[in-house]
Amino acid sequence: MIGRLNHVAIAVPDLSAAAEDYRTRLGAEVGPPLPQPDHGVTVIFITLPNTKIELLEPLGDAGPITGFLAKNPSGGIHHICYEVDDILAARDQLIATGARILGDGDPKTGAHGKPVLFLHPKDFTGTLIELEQA
Ligand code: CO
Repeated sequence: MIGRLNHVAIAVPDLSAAAEDYRTRLGAEVGPPLPQPDHGVTVIFITLPNTKIELLEPLGDAGPITGFLAKNPSGGIHHICYEVDDILAARDQLIATGARILGDGDPKTGAHGKPVLFLHPKDFTGTLIELEQA
């Protein structure tokens, strides 16, 4: 069902410092900061030859990354995103296996303007999984 690895998302306490590390120390192609008020994060995309890295910093007080950074003050891998051809079919197939979809179960528009869903990490080896419509 799952296809390409679309991105790995890393929560960071200091977005510009993290972006600078990727640009100058790792020599990566780093994009501009993109505030996403609907998602409570500011994102920077890093383009690698075979996938993307998404650096996430909290935007506002109650975003989804705030609690994660409280537990992981120096940052850490927050989620991984796999592409699926048909997100509704994928969701229904996963629900049939007992997997839990976060939120109300309906796809939301993600950081790339495509429908996304998140799967409960306890159902998948402690990893928060995002599915994105390819
Ligand atoms: Co993501």
